[in-house]
Formats: sequence, structure tokens, C-alpha cells
Amino acid sequence: MDNRVYIFDTTLRDGEQVPGCQLNTIEKIEVARVLEQLGVDVIEAGFPISSPGDFKSVVEISKAVTWPTICALTRAVEKDIEVAAESLKFAKRGRIHTGIGTSPYHIVSKLNSNPEEILDRAIRAVKYAKRFVEDVEFYAEDAGRSDNVYLARVVEAVIKAGATVVNIPDTTGYCLPSDFGEKIKFLMENVPNIHKAIISTHCHNDLGMATANTVAGVMNGARQVEVTINGIGERAGNTSLEEVVMILRSHKELDLHTNINTKNIYKTSKLVSSLMNMPVQPNKAIVGRNAFAHSSGIHQDGVLKNRENYEIIDPVEVGINESSIVLTARSGRAALNHHLEMLGVKLEKEKLDEVYQEFLLMADKKKDIKEDDLLVLVGERGYHERRIKLDFLQVVTGKNLVPMATLRLDIAGEKFTATEFGNGPVDAAIKAVKSIIHRKVTLQEFLIQAINKGSDDVGKVHMQVDFDGNIFNGFGANTDIITASVEAFIDAINKIGNSEKASDVKK
Ligand code: KIV
Ligand code: ZN
Repeated sequence: MDNRVYIFDTTLRDGEQVPGCQLNTIEKIEVARVLEQLGVDVIEAGFPISSPGDFKSVVEISKAVTWPTICALTRAVEKDIEVAAESLKFAKRGRIHTGIGTSPYHIVSKLNSNPEEILDRAIRAVKYAKRFVEDVEFYAEDAGRSDNVYLARVVEAVIKAGATVVNIPDTTGYCLPSDFGEKIKFLMENVPNIHKAIISTHCHNDLGMATANTVAGVMNGARQVEVTINGIGERAGNTSLEEVVMILRSHKELDLHTNINTKNIYKTSKLVSSLMNMPVQPNKAIVGRNAFAHSSGIHQDGVLKNRENYEIIDPVEVGINESSIVLTARSGRAALNHHLEMLGVKLEKEKLDEVYQEFLLMADKKKDIKEDDLLVLVGERGYHERRIKLDFLQVVTGKNLVPMATLRLDIAGEKFTATEFGNGPVDAAIKAVKSIIHRKVTLQEFLIQAINKGSDDVGKVHMQVDFDGNIFNGFGANTDIITASVEAFIDAINKIGNSEKASDVKK
């Protein structure tokens, strides 16, 4: 059996059914393009008969993406199928996803019908869809609670009618992983023409078992999984794409693979979360804020000795580049030293001990210690080399005045003064620094933050500068934000200039 598992993404159909998560067509196109870059095989773009907006989205997504198959959902109703076919007319590869309920609940109390009539409607729907597209997927709604023998008859009949994919949804999220796995196994062993179609899983998360059920499905022969980014979807959601993909990637013994470019997982998760106004829970597997964060001293020490002591996935694999060692009051010296080293600050044991005590005081006050806080801590104590220092600064600014800055720099003991005008006081001051220093630096990022939010607060400034294609980060903190900005800029220059010579400086 083929060991490729196809990823069918239904973020834009089942995921979008969540109240408050509706996207407009432009936003859906943005998500579809990101899903294409992620490498999904199928994008379920909507349920075209349900609204003109859904119809339009399927049309526009079909035009906007190239590689994934575009799928449109229908009921086993001719009009639905016609509208879906129409919406797919620009798709390079189009699929109609039609189906009907097969559990006793659906047959009797939803559809007021009987098993034979349902079987007949299923066959007719697939045959009708085949008139418009070659690729037809059939779903047996509530297959999770359907009788396996009857389900096998339906699956055999729809494959005979031309279904290329047969979806076995656990619509209510009821199944246990062992039962769902058994169901797929039963179909694989008892449907004579099963090899002519791909069996798909579509699991909901009502009991928190969607991912486990999906994995049980593929372990028993399913080769397509229907999933959403961040597991969003009706009620408790659908199976999450990132979890299934990373399970298959981590468990090599399963010998199953997908086409997903895992390095794009995190950015896709972020985009979907922000466009759909659906925050990701911090402890969500793979993409949660804390998924790779180690905060206790013992774990941090273990991870620093060997990442695999406490991590089964390298965060870089899913596109997370930040450090997984978070700094809190429970962090040890090893974690602090690790962060300082990453910032280019190397301390002797004795100095590290001193900074560690300062760090603990800061961590008691602040829950979340960031790298710029550390730089303020060590910067103030003079532990990193600062060849260039701001010696004096005066700015003249106000309404209807052209801002002007005069400053004096101390460069390795020598003093240099400059005055410049700018479109604001920071601009004037940065120009004055640049006029003293021979460096072709370009400011890439400039961020000012208040630490405690009062008007008497200390402003923290982060500046990112580009020098010769390399990025340098500078930090400054002061109750005067112009001074903090100039210090941040100088801090970045100092990092470039550890190799700087006095001859590089204008006299
Ligand atoms: O959960 C479900 O059964 C569905 C079908 C329409 C595929 O979403
Ligand atoms: Zn569903």
C-alpha cells in the first residue's frame, strides 16, 4: 500500500463554520495561498449552494491557487451539485464532495428515510457529480456511529458509481481511537473494490480524540486526512493539521509521509488565528505559545545539555525560531547564561553570579523577562564592551519648530560633537550620530515600549540596523525616550564595531 498520506484542508469550509470566524473572499484567498505554500493536497474552499459569498469564494480560490485540488461541498442533492460544478469552473483540478448521513440517527430522525433509499440516493449523487467532474468524493455523514456492515455496502456502491475518494467522518466526535481504527480496517477488509478509491478520515474533537482517531485511521489504511489549521471547526473543532503531520513525521516507524512543508506550519497557524479572531490556546500542541517553552530550572538545564532530553520536535522544524528557554523567577544560571550568550554577552562565573542575583530581583517583579530586559540589566552594569558612549544630548523640538539635536559621543576616550536637523527629534539625533560615525547603517526596525505604562515610565527602545547585509540589535532604556532611542542606536553600532578601529571614526 502507498505510504503517502494526502492532506485535505477544510479550514475554509468546516473551520469557517465557527460562529464569529467568517472571512471575506480576500481573506479566504490569502489563507488559500498560504495553504498552497504549506503543501496541502486539497483545499475545501466552501459549500457553494449555502450562500453567494461561499460560491464566490470557491470561484476566486480556484483562480488564485494552482497546485492543490479545489473541493466544493454539496448535499446529495442535484441542485447543490450543479452549483458546486459551476463554482469550480476555473479550478485546475476540481473535486465535488457530496454525501449523505448513514447512521441510524441520520437515516431516521434527520432524513426520515430508510437504509435502502439512502443507498440509492448516495449512488445517484455520485453518478450525477461524475457528469461534471472526474474527481468525486463521497462522505458518509456520521459514519462514526454507522453500522459497519451497512457502511461497507454504501462504500462499495459509491466506489462502483465512480467515487475516487470515500470519506468516513466521525461527525460527532464519538468514536474511541480503537473503534475508529477497527472501522477503517473493517472497510479495508470487507469492501471488494476498496483499492479503487482513497479512504479518508474526517474526525471531530468533541471528546478530544480527533487527532488520535485520525492517526488510528491512517494506521489502518486511510490515506487522506481531513484537517484544519489549529484544529478549528464546529463545536470542539476538527482534527488539527499540524498535529497529524508532526505525528507522522515524528513516528518514523509508521513509514507514512505527507507533502507538508513543516517550516510553514507556524506562520500558517498565526495567519489563520489572526484572520479568524481565534486565539490559539497557549498549551496547544505544536503551535501553542508554550508548546516549546521550558520554564522550570531542571527542564531548562536538561534542554541546554541536550535538546532531546525534553523536546521531541525541534521548534525550527515547524518554523519557530525563538528560544524555547523562557526566563522566569524559576530559571537557573544555565538558562540566563544561555540567553546572554545568544545576545553575544560572555560573563565570567563571578559576574554571572552577580547578574543572576539582579535577574532574580527583576524576575520577581516581571513575569516575562525578554532579551532586551537582559541587555538593560547587563548594559547598565557595563558588562559588554561599549566603545562608543553617549556623553551629552540636547534636543530642541515642539510644534512649528524644526527639530534639532546636538550631541557629543565619547569614542574610546575621544569626544566628538555634531548638530543636525530632522523631521523629528529622534531623526535629528540619529543623523547627528551618523554624521560622526563612518558607518553605512540602515535602520530596519524601531520599537518603543513603556515598561509599566505610566507617564513617568521608563521607555524601552529596540532598534534593528542593517550593516553590510548583517542585522544588529540595539537596546536602550531611559525615562527620556529620545535618549533611549539614541542609546539603542549606539548600542547596535557598538555591536558592529567590536571590530571597529579608531581610523573609522571621523575627526
Ligand atoms: O463532519 C462531517 O460529517 C462533515 C461532512 C459534511 C463531511 O463535515
Ligand atoms: Zn465536519
